[in-house]
Amino acid sequence: KGKRAFIAGVADDNGYGWAIAKSLAAAGAEILVGTWVPALNIFESSLRRGKFDESRILPDGSLMEITKVYPLDAVFDNPEDVPEEIKTNKRYAGSSNWTVQEAAECVKNDFGSIDVLVHSLANGPEVVKPLLETSRKGYLAAISASSYSYVSLLKHFLPIINPGKLPCGSSISLTYIASERIIPGYGGGMSSAKAALESDTRVLAFEAGRKKGIRVNTISAGPLRSRAAKAIGFIDMMIDYSSANAPLEKELSAAEVGNTAAFLASPLASAITGGVIYVDNGLNAMGVGV
Ligand code: NAI
Repeated sequence: KGKRAFIAGVADDNGYGWAIAKSLAAAGAEILVGTWVPALNIFESSLRRGKFDESRILPDGSLMEITKVYPLDAVFDNPEDVPEEIKTNKRYAGSSNWTVQEAAECVKNDFGSIDVLVHSLANGPEVVKPLLETSRKGYLAAISASSYSYVSLLKHFLPIINPGKLPCGSSISLTYIASERIIPGYGGGMSSAKAALESDTRVLAFEAGRKKGIRVNTISAGPLRSRAAKAIGFIDMMIDYSSANAPLEKELSAAEVGNTAAFLASPLASAITGGVIYVDNGLNAMGVGV
């Protein structure tokens, strides 16, 4: 009870970030979200107009409250990093303080501290291209938005994450099994970006653990029909593949990932850190399709 979470990567009610926010809210946490600047207006106006009200319903019948929405672009660490074409871009002009460092400062000024940091964002401009056809620029962009963005978020938020008495302070990201097994179609360096994210989870668990007793884990989630996943283009096939081949034949719900995040953020998980936790109906355990 009484924890505060910052969830980076919520821009609608379809993705894992939203589901994690709901599970944390259901467990009593106060919810702050970081929303990608170009998606901010539509997200905030949809929230205000009640478009998400049905999805906001928590198990006890109350509606999830999002205390504050922060603009965020996790590929920029501070204002000096922002190129002119972004500064003058119409979609960025109405917002301010959206680099990672500034967002962390704003949260600190508004609330002082948080207990849970969630990274639920990824972007790979060439994701539909096979790795052999991926440009250096596309590959580095995937790593920047999907892997380094997490290093940067944790680095800038670490000073304001409460360590708690048990190792309570906790950080969670989302990964995908394409990091360790071949998933044709998950291209553009996104598989590489997830491999980096998982490796960084171990190193960051050590560094944040020794520094502040903060735990760092990543959830390897099964396929979900989110906005980002639809952009990759093969999500329906991956969902069908999973039902056909996973030990559990049911469709994965975002709430199952949300509930795992709530567990990982709780004292129930006080000895779990540096881990890749599979929430995928067991698909990762299969050696061949059936
Ligand atoms: P989503 O579309 O709900 O979330 C991705 C979010 O990232 C969006 O809100 C987007 O606005 C935001 N974003 C993109 N670039 C950004 C930037 N530079 N700065 C700040 N925000 C930015 O989609 P989904 O699928 O829920 O993705 C969340 C996480 O789950 C990602 O890490 C994804 O790779 C991971 N995941 C998704 C799976 C799926 O099947 N949907 C499977 C396994 C992992």
